[in-house]
Amino acid sequence: MSAILIIDDEAGIRSVLAEILEDEKYRVFTAEDGFAGLSVLEREVIDLVILDVWLPNMGGIDVLREIKEKFPIVEVIMISGHANIDLAVKAVKLGAFDFLEKPLSLDRVMVIVRNALEIEKLRRENLRLKNSLIFQDEMIGRSPEMEKIRELIEQSARSDSRVLITGPNGTGKELVAREIHRRSLRAAGPFVEVNCAAIPESLIESELFGHEKGSFTGAVSRRKGKFELAHRGTIFLDEVADMSPSAQAKVLRITQELRFERVGGEESLSVDVRIIAATNKNIQERIRDGMFREDLFFRLNVIPVFVPPLKSRISDLPPLVDYFMGKFKPPGEERSRTISADGMALLQAYSWPGNIRELKNFIERINIMSDEHCVSAETVRYYLGEAESAQDDGLGEFGSMGLTEAREAFEKLYLRKKLEAFDYNITRTAEAIKIYPSNLHGKIKRHGIRMEK
Ligand SMILES: Nc1ncnc2c1ncn2[C@@H]1O[C@H](COP(=O)(O)OP(=O)(O)OP(=O)(O)O)[C@@H](O)[C@H]1O
Ligand SMILES: [Mg+2]
Repeated sequence: MSAILIIDDEAGIRSVLAEILEDEKYRVFTAEDGFAGLSVLEREVIDLVILDVWLPNMGGIDVLREIKEKFPIVEVIMISGHANIDLAVKAVKLGAFDFLEKPLSLDRVMVIVRNALEIEKLRRENLRLKNSLIFQDEMIGRSPEMEKIRELIEQSARSDSRVLITGPNGTGKELVAREIHRRSLRAAGPFVEVNCAAIPESLIESELFGHEKGSFTGAVSRRKGKFELAHRGTIFLDEVADMSPSAQAKVLRITQELRFERVGGEESLSVDVRIIAATNKNIQERIRDGMFREDLFFRLNVIPVFVPPLKSRISDLPPLVDYFMGKFKPPGEERSRTISADGMALLQAYSWPGNIRELKNFIERINIMSDEHCVSAETVRYYLGEAESAQDDGLGEFGSMGLTEAREAFEKLYLRKKLEAFDYNITRTAEAIKIYPSNLHGKIKRHGIRMEK
């Protein structure tokens, strides 16, 4: 149901318009001046504004400018009297959809409103097409595991239920999230991705919820957060296990009442957003260590989807190889390449620690580096060997992490092992690793290391 906001200082016009639009089953909001109107726009999801050209305090043209700046996707229809029709024309040049002349013809109101909403829908549709299949991979694979995932996508897409996607690196968690969005009723709305692990803890709240001008050093102007940008669409909270405790508290509240405040702001904003979260961490362990709120976990984990490693659904490998061969076919070659039978056997025997991402990169490289049309086992072995030695760079599990994350993960592992070695005796451990016991205490707490023997 579309929502329409009427901004007019004449109570009579507001009520007449509200009545006919409500009869047509639109949701209607009214405001008597520009300031009141803008604050409705901040709070509610509005699709269309009907705006008087002549308004007290802030003129209609200024209100229009502000709406177009802050809510560019919202259409605006101007109302003008005979005397100020030139203003209405100017408004159209500034991006208003059209104007209505007083006295209002109710038929014309309905026609223009319908057209404007149609345009708004087309805009969203365009946006959707832009984010659509051109870059996204198809979901390939007919293993029982993949079929199960398809079933879960099918079941969850049409509802707004929250989904928590887990599984190792490169298995396709993001692809699953995008696929759910694409098949949902929100498909025309935005899909906004946030990588919670990549954003410093001090900035994550502002990134998610936006901030008001001057709310902290560096906040030079008001900024919308990802939740606002995802309005009417889906927000994808990637690496959700890495979210700071205070951001977790705010996200929890959004899951309960769909409301939040910008950082440094008092006003409570409502959003209509579906949340899909993903992580490759063991979230149960994070909960046990006190790093992740259990109540938030339950709210996010309404529909759990586990995406297993490629190794455990190796029957998906041949069709994936075919698909990526098609995708990375060198320009100028007529048919996409194939892999010889013994080459395929090698691929199937390999462990694929980087899962589908690694396979995709591998096929891309082979298409660039080799010129065999049917790729031999020798070539496969050669490039797999290279992949294996590239992985074995001595960094182990830390190799795939960003520096901050790796440093943290290493510190935790190091402290755990040292504490264990010294029988969880703080003084002795601290001495051995050459830090102050108080410092060690702090780190134990921060990492949520359990002090059991
Ligand atoms: N079933 C599939 N069919 C085709 N392509 C796939 C499939 N699964 C994953 N891919 C592709 O593999 C790559 C990695 O997938 P994606 O980014 O979704 O993984 P991820 O689980 O989110 O990884 P990470 O944990 O590292 O963030 C992407 O390019 C994706 O399109
Ligand atoms: Mg991902």
